[in-house]
Amino acid sequence: MDSLIIRGGTRLDGTLRASGSKNAALPILAATLLTGESCTLQRVPLLKDITTMMTLLSSLGAGALRNKEGVVVVEGGSVQVFKAPYDLVKTMRASILVLGPLLARYGLAEVSFPGGCAIGSRPVDLHIRVLEAMGADVQVREGYIVARAPNGLVGVDFTFDTVTVGGTENAVMAASLAQGISVLRNVAREPEIIDLVGFLRAMGAQIVGEGTDTLTIHGVAALQGANYSVMPDRIEVGTYLVAAAATRGRVKIEGIVPEILSVVCDKLRHTGACITEGEDWIDLDMQGNRPRAVDVVTEPYPGFPTDMQAQFTALNTIAEGTSRVTETVFENRLMQAHEMKRMGAEILIDGDSAHITGRLSLQGAPVMASDLRASASLVIAGLVASGETRIDRIYHIDRGYENIEGNLQCLGADIRRIST
Ligand code: EPZ
Repeated sequence: MDSLIIRGGTRLDGTLRASGSKNAALPILAATLLTGESCTLQRVPLLKDITTMMTLLSSLGAGALRNKEGVVVVEGGSVQVFKAPYDLVKTMRASILVLGPLLARYGLAEVSFPGGCAIGSRPVDLHIRVLEAMGADVQVREGYIVARAPNGLVGVDFTFDTVTVGGTENAVMAASLAQGISVLRNVAREPEIIDLVGFLRAMGAQIVGEGTDTLTIHGVAALQGANYSVMPDRIEVGTYLVAAAATRGRVKIEGIVPEILSVVCDKLRHTGACITEGEDWIDLDMQGNRPRAVDVVTEPYPGFPTDMQAQFTALNTIAEGTSRVTETVFENRLMQAHEMKRMGAEILIDGDSAHITGRLSLQGAPVMASDLRASASLVIAGLVASGETRIDRIYHIDRGYENIEGNLQCLGADIRRIST
């Protein structure tokens, strides 16, 4: 297994280009199952989770390949296998996103029931409930979700009890081929949902309302292949902005649409960061100042993103003042605090909140990654710690960040990957 070795104390300084969004590319790849025609996708990030999804598509019979220019082509064709096996699903929960498309196009899907993960139980009850409302028969047998809709799916007026990104994605993909009209209420409003709808529309789907809490879909008989470019990854960009602020440095990130990060940038301004924005870039300059502590409460979009919570926790450990970080979306997403305390951070966990007293610096230590964003927050902690930090189990990071050590080296960080 690989580890990252970081010697802290360097102020980041430089320019990066945003990668394509993992959390947009995954549902878009799943959506290619809705057509037998070929789909071509640009700006699909080079990540472990993307490779896993492409492997899953190929195992179903929809050949997914990345050509030498980095463009992903999914041949589609007629899927011969309708089963997403446990061995693949256990490595990536987002495999559940093939459930809606397989059911909508073939009337049949078997997806291994995704287990929980480090951040929470991650149920999929709402995915199942909306598909049942569309007329599917869904059973859970021997660890598999077995869904059937021999007569096809039917449009439905459905309200989600909880805002769920994945549940919204499965529902809108299924409704695109359902008979009749679907009105989906209390849906997720994330930019990644908007990007998925953009791809579905390019395939010929009839959808309105993306970015609001209600989606209306007129089902069509068939969808066509499409050529599409995936949106930039707002969480990857936010992570590098926080790293620059924590190290009192400056970074310019190109290829990003600023408004999808407005809440994060406003929060960074409250730390004292000077942020300027252009049409497709964001520039953060800390001007060598120590960040001020900021309170954070995570919420579904357009609120503060839960995927940026761990990174701000790291920043607050060396910020001026005290802060409270409250996680409302997942039940166990404060674990990075325990590893940071081993680096000298002053953090008190009380239920769903972390109470943090900023210190001038942390001490480097061997720490262990537990999930994707917690791992990224430990990298930030290592960048601001005195001495050396070794982060083990960094396969978590490789799931969501392209070449993180290469990007940080470009910004001047003393970081390297070792195989242990
Ligand atoms: C997506 O996960 C993202 N993953 C997550 O990013 C992100 O943290 C999350 O949305 C919230 O923004 C991808 O897009 C691949 P949810 P998802 O369904 O869809 C509850 C990362 O770091 N819920 O919106 O699984 C659930 O327990 C990852 O890139 C139900 O109760 O999240 C949670 O409390 C981590 N029943 C809340 O909804 C359901 O059927 C939000 O979960 C589904 C969800």
